[in-house]
Amino acid sequence: MRHLMNPLDFSVGELDDLMNLASDIEQNPDKYAHACDRKKLATLFYEPSTRTRLSFEAAMLNLGGSVLGFSEASSSSASKGESVSDTIRVIGCYADIVAMRHPKEGAPLVASIHSKVPVINAGDGGHQHPTQTLADLYTIRKLHGRLSNLTIGLCGDLKFGRTVHSLIEALSRYEGIKFVLISPKELRVPEYIREEVLEKKGIPYQEVEKMEDAMPNLDILYMTRIQRERFFNEDEYLRMKGFYILDKEKMELAKPDTYVLHPLPRVNEISVDVDDDPRARYFEQAQNAVYMRMALILTLLEINVEA
Ligand code: NCD
Repeated sequence: MRHLMNPLDFSVGELDDLMNLASDIEQNPDKYAHACDRKKLATLFYEPSTRTRLSFEAAMLNLGGSVLGFSEASSSSASKGESVSDTIRVIGCYADIVAMRHPKEGAPLVASIHSKVPVINAGDGGHQHPTQTLADLYTIRKLHGRLSNLTIGLCGDLKFGRTVHSLIEALSRYEGIKFVLISPKELRVPEYIREEVLEKKGIPYQEVEKMEDAMPNLDILYMTRIQRERFFNEDEYLRMKGFYILDKEKMELAKPDTYVLHPLPRVNEISVDVDDDPRARYFEQAQNAVYMRMALILTLLEINVEA
């Protein structure tokens, strides 16, 4: 039995298989409409979410399965003091697969150790968010036709943004990837990513504070919101909020094929007038996430749909 905790749990070859499956699902949705008949997905969300939880649920419903779960810790037995390891043992009696989001780094990993069904990390604190990465990779591959030889700009809260950490780890396995890390000094990528991933693997990267300096060279601009809930104090958050605002003017500095992605939710870091720019692809990225989550559910449940 397999779980998904980190994007590196899948090899590059396995990721290709997943993306090919997602692409087949996208093109032939009817073929998969009953693939998960009578299967159940439990979504255990101890932290707020709209997209991730609903897109997991939509993915399972598209496959003919059913969903159950909770969307806040206060409505679960966690509020009575139940441990994650006890909860998961019980949920394994009700569901065939679990997607868990938790404010504590490593909680889904603890759950997976005690689980008799596959567990998917749907975001653990400021750590990792591997299924967002699946959506990001699939979107980049669709837009540029490849995942190698690309210059990727990541902008915003690179310290607490878990989607950024997962995406850097995943992309660092492809040839010819360069990163431009755009953040205020206080919100730089954590040291473990710089040392254990970028430097160890000799991946070229630049850290810059000004977005304008980076714009002309990017193939992808991945915007992120300042992660308010992970700040220790509100004043600090307010100082950082508004540091980066991508607007029409800044988009003029970018190449015709610099696509803009964002895991969403957006706060104010992308001005709404950018939404009409053909290079703005964040809503498409949210749609792609559903196909990738469908592919992931099928893969972890070891369900093969014949051609
Ligand atoms: C992201 C998350 O939860 O980390 N959202 C998402 O899953 N699409 C990004 C964020 O909350 O900023």
